[in-house]
Amino acid sequence: MRVTINKIKEMKQKGEKITILTAYDYTTAKIVDEVGVPLILVGDSLGMVVLGYESTIPVTMEEMLHHTRAVVRGAKQAMVIGDMPFMTYHLSVADALRNAGRFIQEAGAQAVKLEGGVTVADKVKRIVECGIPVMGHIGLTPQSIHQFGGFKVQGKTPEAAIRLLEDARALEEAGAFSVVLETVPAPLATLITQKIGIPTIGIGAGAGCDGQVQVINDILGSFTDFVPKHAKRYAKLTDIIQTAVSDYYNEVTAGSFPTDKQSFSMDESILAELK
Ligand code: KIV
Repeated sequence: MRVTINKIKEMKQKGEKITILTAYDYTTAKIVDEVGVPLILVGDSLGMVVLGYESTIPVTMEEMLHHTRAVVRGAKQAMVIGDMPFMTYHLSVADALRNAGRFIQEAGAQAVKLEGGVTVADKVKRIVECGIPVMGHIGLTPQSIHQFGGFKVQGKTPEAAIRLLEDARALEEAGAFSVVLETVPAPLATLITQKIGIPTIGIGAGAGCDGQVQVINDILGSFTDFVPKHAKRYAKLTDIIQTAVSDYYNEVTAGSFPTDKQSFSMDESILAELK
């Protein structure tokens, strides 16, 4: 049976850690799902690690829907969360609801994620009221990168820390089933985790959160433009891919690929007639 928001909330109550990974395609989603990871986020990080944009800001609804559909086809058990792109939930509650609905109806996701706290609480409330689970996302929200002036740790001053706690509370009150805390000091993330009833999912927020999320390309070592401090590399996929690609290239160039093993034969008499 597919993972539900009730199961995720229950995990917090039982003190079970929640694992989330991003995925952007069918093949990867299938692997992540088969391992048993309960939540798959089709993050708008897609823009950077798959599409080669400089930030997540240019990502469109159509791009997100396209990749979310692929992930949904690969994930049989995990809950699939579609990340709402920049400016698809900011203009009005109606706009936010319409776009959230597209992730569910057109792409088959089970939930959506959006960035912001107090300022988007009205949108979260309406989306949840209409039956769509919402994951919040506060702290270093990449869609506001220009406002922050770079990838900086958030919540370090007393005022900023209080604002983050208020944001987390506003999301809980609006009905979000969980909230991502990105790049905030670990002690603050722990405090927020203790003060709210919904699961906190950390990325660069320390071990005190109820769960952790990572961009899959970071943990696989397949995106090397930069490696965020919060990421741990569990593999060096770039090296493996480079070796395989250069072996293939060398063999084709040398004429040693393909061999009979990769080729198909035919009836000799038919061939003789053609000759
Ligand atoms: O887009 C994304 O992958 C995200 C996670 C890093 C939380 O928002």
